[in-house]
Amino acid sequence: MKLEARPLIDNVMPTTRENCQCPKCIHPDTMQRISDTFSIPQEVEIESIEHSDNMVEIKWSDNHMGLYPYAWLYAHSQGISSIEGTKSVPYPQSAQRRPRQFTPVVDPDQSPRVKYDDVMSADESLHIWLSHIWDQGFCFVDDVPINPEATQYLIERIAFIRNTHYGGFWDFTADLTFKDTAYTNEFLGAHTDNTYFTDPARLQLFHLLSHTEGSGGENLLIDGFAAAEQLRLERPEHYAQLVNHRQPWHASGNEDTCIQPSAMSPVFSIHPDMNTMYQIRWNNYDRAPKTNWSASEQTTWYRAARHYNEILQTREMWTKLKPGSALIFDNWRMLHGRAQFTGKRRMCGGYVNNDDYISRLRLLKFGRKEVLDNLGNVRGNPLNPYWYI
Ligand SMILES: [Fe+2]
Ligand SMILES: [Zn+2]
Repeated sequence: MKLEARPLIDNVMPTTRENCQCPKCIHPDTMQRISDTFSIPQEVEIESIEHSDNMVEIKWSDNHMGLYPYAWLYAHSQGISSIEGTKSVPYPQSAQRRPRQFTPVVDPDQSPRVKYDDVMSADESLHIWLSHIWDQGFCFVDDVPINPEATQYLIERIAFIRNTHYGGFWDFTADLTFKDTAYTNEFLGAHTDNTYFTDPARLQLFHLLSHTEGSGGENLLIDGFAAAEQLRLERPEHYAQLVNHRQPWHASGNEDTCIQPSAMSPVFSIHPDMNTMYQIRWNNYDRAPKTNWSASEQTTWYRAARHYNEILQTREMWTKLKPGSALIFDNWRMLHGRAQFTGKRRMCGGYVNNDDYISRLRLLKFGRKEVLDNLGNVRGNPLNPYWYI
């Protein structure tokens, strides 16, 4: 669909000149800006406009000939929905945003599943896998060869494995190598990992390699976003408590570490542009004592936290992991836990960062050109399909 260039350009004047998309302004290999912003005259104006089928050429008053794909202009127009004649322009088919699906309580048979060979060999299957994780918060991968190497390759199919003070790819049998409850065989209540990092890992993958001479150890998953939505509907003021009070977090179990995020963070993080929840930090093991609040603020917060905890307990989904089936989940959304177990259990797995996972998903979903045309596009929020969080 062809757009009228003039209203688009009138509307984007302040940044359009600086962000000229021609090869003298954007390096064609690095995609970085190479023009000198500060040598552009402050009062630069458009002298003339030419347009072809998918490019707009603008002659600027400083004699620069600017080049802009229509898709770029469209993505970067401020307040475009109010411009006459452009209202009905739809996003391309590839960009129709699917809302996240809330995970139904209990039924592991309804869980999203993919196969190891498919995701390892075809980008289309990788795309399906990552979309399941984004849409539903988790996914199983079946027919994984039962060894750490294959599990590591599986994670690296998404992106490099995140290193932490516990290491990168891990492979352990229950002992107390690291002084953290996760490394014991005790019950582990629902939590998110890495609340103590400034940037918690986004994905976590578990693969049970063996479990002998014992039983138990079922895995717990809870859709924290769905539970938060229930909290918001039942008691909006409780929801607001978990948004508004930032909490301190820490990881101090090993002698040589005491990790704390650079800023305190709330249980529910709301995206500043999209006005939607994008990250949960819920970890009663790792929450540090907060000092900067009054006695009455504390009472109200604990009441809200107790309410959220009650809702979580009604939304538990238990699964028994089997060698050959890996579980991956969105650690910004899903809470996880584990039942107590006996016997010897060998598990392996690892983390993936948010930015690297989303980059992979975005490129698979839209293709590189469309993604680049939409850099910085927060237009039409919260339904903007290009803004994956
Ligand atoms: Fe954990
Ligand atoms: Zn240029």
